[in-house]
Amino acid sequence: MFKKISRRDLAGLLGLSALGLAAPAGAQRSAAKPGTYVPASFPKDFLWGTATSSYQVEGAVDEDGRGPSIWDTFAHAEGNIEDRSNGDIACDHYHRYKDDVGLIRDLGAKAYRFSIAWPRVFPDGIGTPNPKGLDFYDRLIDELLKTGIEPYATLYHWDLPQALQERVGGWLSSETSRAFADYAGHVVARLGDRVRSFFTVNECGRFVPFGYGLGIDAPGLKLPQAEVNQARHHVALAHGLAVQAIRAHGRAGTRVGVAENITSCVPAIDTEANIEATRVATRELNAGFLNVILTGAYTEGFLRYAGATAPKFTAEELKIIATPTDFLGLNIYAPGHYITASDRPPGFDVLPFPSAFPHMSSDWLRIAPETMYWAPRLAAEIWNVDAIYISENGTSSIDRRAGDGQVYDLDRVMFLRNYLGQLQRAIADGVPVKGYFLWSLMDNFEWIYGYGKRFGVYWVDFETQARTPKLSAFFYRDVIARNAIGA
Ligand code: BG6
Repeated sequence: MFKKISRRDLAGLLGLSALGLAAPAGAQRSAAKPGTYVPASFPKDFLWGTATSSYQVEGAVDEDGRGPSIWDTFAHAEGNIEDRSNGDIACDHYHRYKDDVGLIRDLGAKAYRFSIAWPRVFPDGIGTPNPKGLDFYDRLIDELLKTGIEPYATLYHWDLPQALQERVGGWLSSETSRAFADYAGHVVARLGDRVRSFFTVNECGRFVPFGYGLGIDAPGLKLPQAEVNQARHHVALAHGLAVQAIRAHGRAGTRVGVAENITSCVPAIDTEANIEATRVATRELNAGFLNVILTGAYTEGFLRYAGATAPKFTAEELKIIATPTDFLGLNIYAPGHYITASDRPPGFDVLPFPSAFPHMSSDWLRIAPETMYWAPRLAAEIWNVDAIYISENGTSSIDRRAGDGQVYDLDRVMFLRNYLGQLQRAIADGVPVKGYFLWSLMDNFEWIYGYGKRFGVYWVDFETQARTPKLSAFFYRDVIARNAIGA
């Protein structure tokens, strides 16, 4: 029997690590005798997890004093959701959480990323907290801990209290940023004895442009770019204020970071010049959010490009926005852009996607496993980050139950195997990725697609609420058990 060795160990064996070089891809194969291939392992303490979000799974929208959120309003309005559904019941996770924790346990996952519904805690967004608002999360967290699963709580996964939208225009006002910090402080004071890690906001890069610019997510507004940029600035400010509130109200050792769908840039061909151009592109194309929260400045390029539409801000706000965090969460699905070097400013070209570029069942989900290598690597290099979590990765599919009742989602297995392979490559190259949260634990309310797109590794029968593990659940369980991809 061969002992399992990581690519990093192998690089050492080959004498490459002394030179600061990682073993080239394929080195294992040439080093091993035929038939003795040993899969590379993930680091010993690598954190395997799964993820969901409150509005997508909980249901129970009228229970225990929860107020309405902008997604209740948006989903109930005619014409917004493809299959005319909503999250009223969703996966009924609010009542079935114990069984669902059992599903996580069955995968062997050691962490669960869920989100807290702000309108459960503050039904009006501000003011007096609902006395029952955190009881569900208390129960969920206790169940997780009892089962040996670490809770990772996200404070904002898009379900803004409707009252804040109506009163101050939601993220168009910095009052919402301050309300978010008060909510964050309240949650951490109550749950921080058991939850060590918090994500502030999920995917500012999605809910701001889609909700305030394009009008296709809640609150469904189509506003001019200046207001979209201002809303993004208020989300950045909310993040910074929340980090400060968490530091003020949390226990020692409480960790916090953002979860962002980084605009991922990938070198079209891995030449040195293209890689450098991709680094520049990554910084500039994330200048409106990630770069400002990680450096405390809007880049000159961003301000020049935004011109009159640039957000209004003060130096004091920039300081708050850049309050130091403990980790960076990256949601990684599709490649944002393929990049080549250019002699003209800004130093990079964005290539057009060929019309036949392959994608998964969601049109937007182009298949590019190398995104999982380049996004964390470049983020770590550019912003000097020493702890990254892949806070989401996974795929939709048109899953069907076969005659035997099983779901053979070979496309999802293909997707995960290839993305995880590139994640392993990144880690072997020294990129500090500490954990991975598969999106999603189970099929759920997929926003504007309703229940028409399925992202889960557990199939959910929305009539009966029965859960069935798909083939991908067995695949993921196997990866977790071996801490490696395949035998
Ligand atoms: C991420 C979100 O953008 O992608 C998740 O954080 C979402 O909440 C997932 O479910 C898939 O997105 P969509 O738009 O295809 O439902």
